[in-house]
Amino acid sequence: MTEKVKLGLVGTGHMGQYHVNVAVGMEPYEIVGICDANAEQLQTVAERFDLKAYSDFEVMLAEVDAVAIAVPTVLHFEIARKALEAGKHVLVEKPITTSVAQAEELVHIAESKQLVLQVGHIERFNGAVLELGKVVSEPYLIESRRLAPFNKRISDVGVVLDLMIHDIDIILNLVSKPVKSVHARGSSVFSKHEDYAAATIHFEGGCVANIVASRVTQTKIRRLSISQKNAFILQDFATQDIEIHRQASSAYLMTREELKYKQESFIEHVAVHRDNPLRQEHQHFVDTIRGKCSSIVSPQEELRTLKIASDILQDVQKNLIVVG
Ligand SMILES: NC(=O)c1ccc[n+]([C@@H]2O[C@H](COP(=O)([O-])OP(=O)(O)OC[C@H]3O[C@@H](n4cnc5c(N)ncnc54)[C@H](O)[C@@H]3O)[C@@H](O)[C@H]2O)c1
Repeated sequence: MTEKVKLGLVGTGHMGQYHVNVAVGMEPYEIVGICDANAEQLQTVAERFDLKAYSDFEVMLAEVDAVAIAVPTVLHFEIARKALEAGKHVLVEKPITTSVAQAEELVHIAESKQLVLQVGHIERFNGAVLELGKVVSEPYLIESRRLAPFNKRISDVGVVLDLMIHDIDIILNLVSKPVKSVHARGSSVFSKHEDYAAATIHFEGGCVANIVASRVTQTKIRRLSISQKNAFILQDFATQDIEIHRQASSAYLMTREELKYKQESFIEHVAVHRDNPLRQEHQHFVDTIRGKCSSIVSPQEELRTLKIASDILQDVQKNLIVVG
């Protein structure tokens, strides 16, 4: 397939507008139109980007080759299933669905109809994450922190499916060993779901990953650090920077007056190619549809990510308390 991919976009809220903004500028797409359940929102976005507005998803579906879905997570399954059953390729925002059974059903339909089903794990296309894949080798201790202030926009799911899912996905792709066990705790502060959570994943072979996610923290932090034999790697998702610390040594120096602590290491700053990750995500979607590559966000990996996220969520929900 070399002709343009006829794309329809469903959901024009916060994330949907980023999708529209990126997609309209992409040569491989012919944008058929946009669809949203909120008529006012739909009209505003359609006018801003000069696109056709569809109030009925199924009418738009009949006219496209592919859809990009950015509706609330609880609706992913219903809308993605309709699109796949109609024979359309699907790019659906993360997480794929709220349950593993629903995700398995979507993967099954996509495979049986030979359609692309790509999940919007935007961090996979973050230049720093792509570089990380080249540097990380047999990690043994991973710590990730993804913290953000409260925003009442996402009310259908908690922080595990909203934010932590990004880090679960990245970490499972960095550690090439099966997961041995998962432990997690979290609580709700402002919403009816967990608003912060801390999870520990133990892998076969000894690697331990500690993942902290919050949507009730008065600042935004997105960092990942990795300890392995030859390096300590620090990554900032927001600035797309990577620092690699090597050959660290530390010593206590005793003089007559004082005891001093001295620590030395070589620090490499990795030059990261900064591109718009969402644009890369869409380009990858098109390339996969055109058969130029196989998906780097494979449905099987997505199922694995959602399974671990569900285990974490179960542990959190079993012990959930309301704070404050
Ligand atoms: N990849 C990322 O980094 C990232 C960031 C933010 C959100 N997201 C994901 O994007 C999705 C949407 O989140 P958001 O923050 O944009 O939410 P949002 O509430 O801002 O937007 C959702 C939009 O979907 C519309 N909608 C609801 N039901 C619909 C239906 N049946 N048909 C058509 N439109 C419908 C709403 O009117 C709204 O405009 C979520 O799944 C979220 O997890 C991903």
